[in-house]
Amino acid sequence: MFGTDAVEPLWVADMDFAAPPAVQQALAARVAHPIYGYTVVPDSAPQALADWLARRHGWPVDPAHIRLVPGVVPTLYAAVAALTEPGQGVVVQPPVYPPLFDAVRRQGRVLLENPLRETATGVWQMDLDHLETLAAGGARLLLLCSPHNPVGRVWSRDELSQVLDIARRHGMAILSDEIHADLVYAPRHGAAADAPVHVPLGHLATPEDRVVTALAPSKTFNIPGFGLSATVTANDTLARPLHAVWARLPVSVADPLALAAFEAAYRHGEAWLDACLSVLRANRDALFAAIGAGGAQRVTGSPPEATYLAWLDCRGAGLDDAALMRAWVAAGLGLSAGPRFGTGGSGHMRLNFAIPPSRLAQCIRPIHRFNLG
Ligand SMILES: Cc1ncc(COP(=O)(O)O)c(C=O)c1O
Repeated sequence: MFGTDAVEPLWVADMDFAAPPAVQQALAARVAHPIYGYTVVPDSAPQALADWLARRHGWPVDPAHIRLVPGVVPTLYAAVAALTEPGQGVVVQPPVYPPLFDAVRRQGRVLLENPLRETATGVWQMDLDHLETLAAGGARLLLLCSPHNPVGRVWSRDELSQVLDIARRHGMAILSDEIHADLVYAPRHGAAADAPVHVPLGHLATPEDRVVTALAPSKTFNIPGFGLSATVTANDTLARPLHAVWARLPVSVADPLALAAFEAAYRHGEAWLDACLSVLRANRDALFAAIGAGGAQRVTGSPPEATYLAWLDCRGAGLDDAALMRAWVAAGLGLSAGPRFGTGGSGHMRLNFAIPPSRLAQCIRPIHRFNLG
């Protein structure tokens, strides 16, 4: 990946933390039952997710509206296939998680970009006027990333309501990728009341709204290797074509181990997640304290409101993207290159800070090394 082993790898979006003990125990118990035959999805699996969404996000979901599906990236592809025709326009909001582009381009749809904008104070925003123009111009689907990877924004209720209104006015469907929804830095005790809260788009929507939400325990509980996820929609006219995509393909989510992990995580992983978020928050704050220190402005950025991903603006270094990657590798960190995230990505790097604090402390020196040039 980086041409050397002498880097701290901070790129792929998973955590260097053991999965919740409850997940480990459920897997051990399932493995101990040594018949690994064809399996069905038990009703208790969507129920576990529905209970989680009600408890953690205040979103009451009918388990009948939940379907377990094989991964959020496959879901992005399925949504594009089911809800649009070849040649139709699909909106993405770069810089954004790269498979969103691929799901559109590789299926012969037209990629319509609505680039995010950064305010003078470093806040990332959606360009709602341009989104309206694209929707009015015939865009059939918006692939929304909420919270947003890589900029770490938790879209506010007001922003999401406006997106929903635009979609309603123009009959545009929305696939809301909420895989990072559980990784929001909740207000500390006594902190400002306006601290970010994740609002599920499906909670704002009515059943008539053309909204599908994609969710997974993968990021939340650090079990992405199982690739098991879920879609939620109360809208039958979307559910039917979407589910038909899976029915056409000989794929199954009935993996006995993945199901055991999924259910144990949502039922028993909450205390682990809260402890994990405390570590991530402290890491985030230590990282951005280091980035802000020293006065050198080769790297800047604002702390993410959600996700364990930091979007670093390195344009102050005055390097092209290849040289920028070499400079970070020389400093000792293996990061994700910004251009992969599309328009607005050049000159940026994404850093994954979900590592033990002792290892993060060792990354501070490479950051200073990079800053000094
Ligand atoms: C926004 C977003 N969606 C989807 C995924 C991956 O989903 P899955 O592993 O379920 O395909 C990621 C992983 O980084 C992501 O950041």
